[in-house]
Amino acid sequence: MVKKLLSVLKGEPAPIPPIWLMRQAGRYLPEYRALRANAKDFVQFCLTPELAVEVTLQPVRRFNLDAAILFADILLVPHALGQKVWFAEGEGPRLEPVRDTAGLAKLAWRPDMLAPVMQTIKGVRAALPEQAALIGFAGSPWTVASYMIEGAGGTDHEILRKLAWTDGKFFAALMDLLVEATSAYLIAQVDAGAEALQLFESWAGTVPAGLFSRAVLEPTARIVKAVKAKHPGIPIIGFPRGAGGWLTRYAEATGVDGIGVDQMTDITAVQVPAKVALQGNLDPILLLQGGDALRVEAKMLVSAMAGQPFIFNLGHGVMQPTPPEHVADLVAAIRG
Ligand code: CP3
Repeated sequence: MVKKLLSVLKGEPAPIPPIWLMRQAGRYLPEYRALRANAKDFVQFCLTPELAVEVTLQPVRRFNLDAAILFADILLVPHALGQKVWFAEGEGPRLEPVRDTAGLAKLAWRPDMLAPVMQTIKGVRAALPEQAALIGFAGSPWTVASYMIEGAGGTDHEILRKLAWTDGKFFAALMDLLVEATSAYLIAQVDAGAEALQLFESWAGTVPAGLFSRAVLEPTARIVKAVKAKHPGIPIIGFPRGAGGWLTRYAEATGVDGIGVDQMTDITAVQVPAKVALQGNLDPILLLQGGDALRVEAKMLVSAMAGQPFIFNLGHGVMQPTPPEHVADLVAAIRG
């Protein structure tokens, strides 16, 4: 059986698009909260295969989705580089910031720290329903760097932008380190059984145009090239959120097989090579809200993308207060 997500990522349109949702596993699901309640530390939660396998499978079982996404976090890469990462209750991620060459020199990639992620991948593959594909992922360098440098999740990234403009040598060394670690991490995920990969460039929207090549296009292209050198057939989706005006160049320069599109962008007007799949881009607020507006917009999106390689998703992650029944409604509207 050819999994629908994988055939669409080869450039073949599907009459009913495959569907999965960013942050489909998480706090909006009561069965997630029940497991999460027993684990104090979020990093350790991600690195406990029995828990991570179960949480990865929860939304796939409940909603019969076309893909599972590995339960992990983009901040496991800084963690395995030796940076201190923690999640303060109600405050989001915190890191001991790295802002100079001396700080950078202390970091070193320790793949053994992420061995549990590979166990999770194996466990999920063994238990996944046959129609569902397993998506592995990592953050893209700029996005991961934003947390490493700022020390927290911000929205403007002023410290990183200033460093990128004024200390080109430091910035290039930071990008090199992340390209190498991320490539190795993704290759290991495919070795373990991931069937597709997504690169989350969630903060592409804070990159100034004059840095876009050095901060996004080149590092992403290098990762895609390294992963495909080892695993030529592995499909890769890039998600440069907030960079709608760059999507054509992003597709051409990086060599990804699919592009994740945010809800600010008119997905029907995105120009990419014919074989490149588009993924997106329903506003997560409609999923939170539910009802007719959700069903009508979802169906309009599906018909607008008919005949193209298209993967149904949100324009960003499921919002925490979303009622799970709305997800079931959405899936029924698309398949019904
Ligand atoms: O279901 C899935 O999508 C798979 C798992 C997944 C998580 N994080 C689990 C998670 C994925 C793919 C991510 C990626 C991720 N992590 C991104 C890129 C996607 C995006 O949302 O733009 C980013 C920026 C992060 C960093 C991060 N991790 C943030 C900002 C937060 C929220 C902090 C908070 O307390 O609100 C996290 C924590 C996190 N990652 C949670 C989950 C389910 C919630 C933590 C909890 O259960 O307490």
